[in-house]
Amino acid sequence: MHNASPVNSSAVPPAVAIIGGGVIGLSLGWRLAQAGCRVTLVERNPETGRGASWAAAGMLAGGIEAEPTEEPLFALARWSQSLWPDFAAELEAASGLPTGYDATGTLVCAFTRDQAEKLRHGIAFQRGLGGVFEWLGAADAREREPGLAPSLVAAAFSPNDHQVDNRLVAAALAEAFRRAGGRLIAGIEASVDLAGGRAVGIVAGDARHPADLTVIAAGAWSRTVPGLSAAHRPPTRPIKGQMLALMMPPGAPLIRHTVWGGQCYLVPRADGRLLIGATVEERGFDATITAGGLLGLLDDAWRTLPGIEDLPIHETWAGFRPGSPDDQPMLGPSGIDGLLVATGHHRNGILLTPATAAAMAELILTGRVSPHIEPFGIARFEKATS
Ligand code: FAD
Ligand code: GLY
Repeated sequence: MHNASPVNSSAVPPAVAIIGGGVIGLSLGWRLAQAGCRVTLVERNPETGRGASWAAAGMLAGGIEAEPTEEPLFALARWSQSLWPDFAAELEAASGLPTGYDATGTLVCAFTRDQAEKLRHGIAFQRGLGGVFEWLGAADAREREPGLAPSLVAAAFSPNDHQVDNRLVAAALAEAFRRAGGRLIAGIEASVDLAGGRAVGIVAGDARHPADLTVIAAGAWSRTVPGLSAAHRPPTRPIKGQMLALMMPPGAPLIRHTVWGGQCYLVPRADGRLLIGATVEERGFDATITAGGLLGLLDDAWRTLPGIEDLPIHETWAGFRPGSPDDQPMLGPSGIDGLLVATGHHRNGILLTPATAAAMAELILTGRVSPHIEPFGIARFEKATS
């Protein structure tokens, strides 16, 4: 049923309809428009890039977020990480807009002996998969980041875990998509248009937008896209993340690297914001900012970087990571002819944007399933339950 054979058998680039204007839908739309496809992208919000792509921290954390049992995801993440520098440069040139790409790297901190042992164990696993880390004693780590708490025991430096400003990236992608000839329709919900059991485009309001191929890239909402029977809805679920941003003094950042404390991460932005994230909550689409959520983040951030105490709170927000049954992406054919999925990117959708766009565009243009996305077919969930 989930046929991996060519989805585009004609020599003419296919007309493609995309549901969802986050980084995943926009980047795929951009790549396809560049390749000569007629692409229509429909975003429900009045502005694109306001879903998880807005809420994220923008870490390109292919190294330190990898966990045992996630080896294929680690390979995809490292590939995407390697694509990011050129992707950011090309995107900036194509859009005329910045991405905030920053290659300073990431420090993972341990404040107890137990945490240090756990960190040592984690990086040994990640090194085994090709990850690059430098082990630092407390003095060396505090030399790099003097603001870290004196209770620091050790740290691991991950030179390849960079960051972008995800909000800038989403804005740049929308502009690059338009400039490449893509058609963007915002402020209206899209549903899948099915005829004879095949997807033939999308319906948005009263208008039909016929397409040879349709892609669901609706993030955490992918399960709710209208037009599909329950059996064919991509099994996404929202995983809530609360975050906040403090404002650092102009020209005097408290930290230059992204820093992971025991229970939080801190991401310094070039404009002076210091992002602190994030909670991980199973609460459906409830976007409430809670005292407990912020308390936990602030407490851990303060234990990591005591100097935050005097900083003003600039913004608080919550967003929804697109989870899946195994919290890894769903990329490729959907099980319905003419319909593909690019969703379920969970904690890593910003990191995985260049790889997702490249591999999904390759699939759409040539029918080839890249080995990088082969493990992430949606059919794996059918196998798990059959
Ligand atoms: P989204 O950005 O959510 O876009 C989906 C879009 O589809 C939305 O704009 C929505 O309005 C639209 N849509 C839904 N239904 C319809 C419909 N029927 N019709 C039309 N449009 C529709 N990832 C990282 O790599 N690094 C990080 O540091 C990081 N930090 C994160 C921190 C937090 C707090 C959160 C919540 C996420 C974080 N992520 C991070 C994960 C990352 O944000 C997501 O994986 C990624 O943004 C998913 O992109 P997307 O385009 O699939 O989804
Ligand atoms: N990747 C960071 C987060 O999802 O919170």
